[in-house]
Amino acid sequence: MTPGEREQKVKALIDKLCLTRKLKRSEWIELIRERTPAAADYLFELARVVRIRHYGHDIYIRGLIEFTNYCKNDCYYCGIRKSNTYAQRYRLSKEDILSCCDQGYELGFRTFVLQGGEDGWFTDERLCDIVSAIRNSFPDCAVTLSVGERSRKSYQQLYEAGADRYLLRHETYNEDHYNRLHPPQMSASHRKKCLWDLKRSGYQTGTGFMVGVPFQTPENLADDMLFLARLNPQMVGIGPFVPHHDTPFADAPGGTVELTLFMLGLIRLLLPRVLLPATTALGTIDPEGREKGILAGANVVMPNLSPLQVREKYLLYDNKICTGDEAAESLNHLKERMEKIGYHITVDRGDSLNI
Ligand code: 5AD
Repeated sequence: MTPGEREQKVKALIDKLCLTRKLKRSEWIELIRERTPAAADYLFELARVVRIRHYGHDIYIRGLIEFTNYCKNDCYYCGIRKSNTYAQRYRLSKEDILSCCDQGYELGFRTFVLQGGEDGWFTDERLCDIVSAIRNSFPDCAVTLSVGERSRKSYQQLYEAGADRYLLRHETYNEDHYNRLHPPQMSASHRKKCLWDLKRSGYQTGTGFMVGVPFQTPENLADDMLFLARLNPQMVGIGPFVPHHDTPFADAPGGTVELTLFMLGLIRLLLPRVLLPATTALGTIDPEGREKGILAGANVVMPNLSPLQVREKYLLYDNKICTGDEAAESLNHLKERMEKIGYHITVDRGDSLNI
């Protein structure tokens, strides 16, 4: 095949995805492996049309509260892994968290995302108490949890306490790949079980993966897309892998903006109504990452609402942005930036219309 013919083939696969939302594994692999800049532009145009059909030009905001960086896990890529003794650990109190929510509410946030490492201090009892306090104080807000793998019973209790949504990236579908990124105590199968448990418990569920994480192949990404199609989550979070200097992957190359945007576009076509953030990691490796993500099909941004004194400590990867336009306080500036590319930040909760 000539390069021109290959590009036509890739565009035909994008058309097929857009029309049928179904590709075979071999087609996903070809689409990802053979992508070209022109094919990417074509994809982004379609992704914008699909996103605008379902959500107009609205961009949803979520206030991110990183409430603990203690973690019992030891993921090779993550800066708050247990073995990183250089990480300065912190844990917010219930009062701290509620005061973050107060500030967020004032700024216009109607979704709070409580994210943390897998911190045993936050037992079901303590976490349920915090969730129900937020639920009672902010009855018009959605509460999203992102606190890792827990038991079915725990997910159920947190749901009953008032959590509406849960984010748990599957990280990578393929077991061998998963095992190269995580210590033996962790498994891809348990991660997936948690995701199905979350769905069954009634949560609006989000999953996702890193782009360009070590050892990742187009085959792995194809499997990630097939998994998304099966799970049919309401949210998908993807961002480039960014190395952290105190982890085993310190010297690995990071993921690219180019491939991250391409994957965002594909996800928009696969799951037209999905809530898809232009993530902090994308904003970290490119000052215009958020805008580029939106123009590739994303429709959510998640500014940081954590107290200023802890923000720098939640360092999942090097140079993670947490001030400037990443900060919830700079919402006005973020609004202006979105307006410049023709989009508007809305304070709607933006519950997914997905079934
Ligand atoms: N680079 C990019 N993303 C990372 N995460 C963890 N470490 C890194 C890194 N080095 C992502 C994981 C996790 C989410 C909270 O942050 O995908 O699920």
